Amino acid sequence: MDPLLNFENQTAIITGAASGFGRALAIALNQRACQLVLSDIDESGLEQTRKLLTSPEKCKTLIVNVASEEGAETMVKKALDAFGSLTIAVNNAGVAHKQAAIHDLSGEIFDNQFDINVKGVAFGMKHQIRAMLQQGSGHILNVSSMAGIGGAPKGGAYSAAKHAVVGLTRTAAVEYGRYNVRCNAICPFFSPTDILEKGGMGSEENKAKLGIGSPMKRISKIEEIVNVMLLTLSPGNTYMNGQTIAVDGGVSAW
Ligand SMILES: NC(=O)c1ccc[n+]([C@@H]2O[C@H](COP(=O)([O-])OP(=O)(O)OC[C@H]3O[C@@H](n4cnc5c(N)ncnc54)[C@H](O)[C@@H]3O)[C@@H](O)[C@H]2O)c1
Repeated sequence: MDPLLNFENQTAIITGAASGFGRALAIALNQRACQLVLSDIDESGLEQTRKLLTSPEKCKTLIVNVASEEGAETMVKKALDAFGSLTIAVNNAGVAHKQAAIHDLSGEIFDNQFDINVKGVAFGMKHQIRAMLQQGSGHILNVSSMAGIGGAPKGGAYSAAKHAVVGLTRTAAVEYGRYNVRCNAICPFFSPTDILEKGGMGSEENKAKLGIGSPMKRISKIEEIVNVMLLTLSPGNTYMNGQTIAVDGGVSAW
């Protein structure tokens, strides 16, 4: 296997692994020999992910709500107990909200967005960083969004939460770079995962409409995002730190 894509003896935590990007990344890393600790709140989806792995014996699954700090700590403990180290952490679990302009957003929507999309990432980072500092190395990849580096009409609370993820990422990069603990964020444009369905944007007509916003005139395929996650996590990528990686068909170039 090409050493740039050989994850042998590496251990990765992935949150939100029952579906979408998290599932596809778990499969891609496991195919390349990575040991995994996968979590989600969706038990049957998580089990389905495990069934799709090439080497399921290299995988532990946990039901974790990322909004709870205890869950974040448990995941790190599981990685250390089962595999002896934590090389990679991908804080991927996230939720969208029903489309609403800022003047229609409720406190409930903001709470949900910040509990899951911000505290979920922050609690994860807190415990992952502690373990990585002890080891003397580690790489965290947070999943933000194009809504984390630009405005998202009718997605104001989501956009605010995903901007917060970028803030956490950049701060961690500056705080821990000297300890060889790095943190980057990926910022995808739309991709046809369940999150689009749940946000009421999943129809073929709507996906075509969303694609018009990209210079490439289409939304991405799931693997087009996950391949960039994989390349970012490559053992050969050892100096990238604090970056927001837009995978957007050129939207940010407008
Ligand atoms: N698909 C897109 O268009 C798109 C674009 C930009 C960013 N993102 C981000 O990508 C990440 C992954 O989303 P996806 O597109 O694969 O969607 P998805 O809905 O397929 O996957 C999200 C996963 O997170 C899990 N999850 C939700 N709340 C949780 C909680 N409280 N605790 C633990 N797990 C929880 C869900 O059960 C699901 O398995 C999210 O952070 C999302 O905001 C997605």
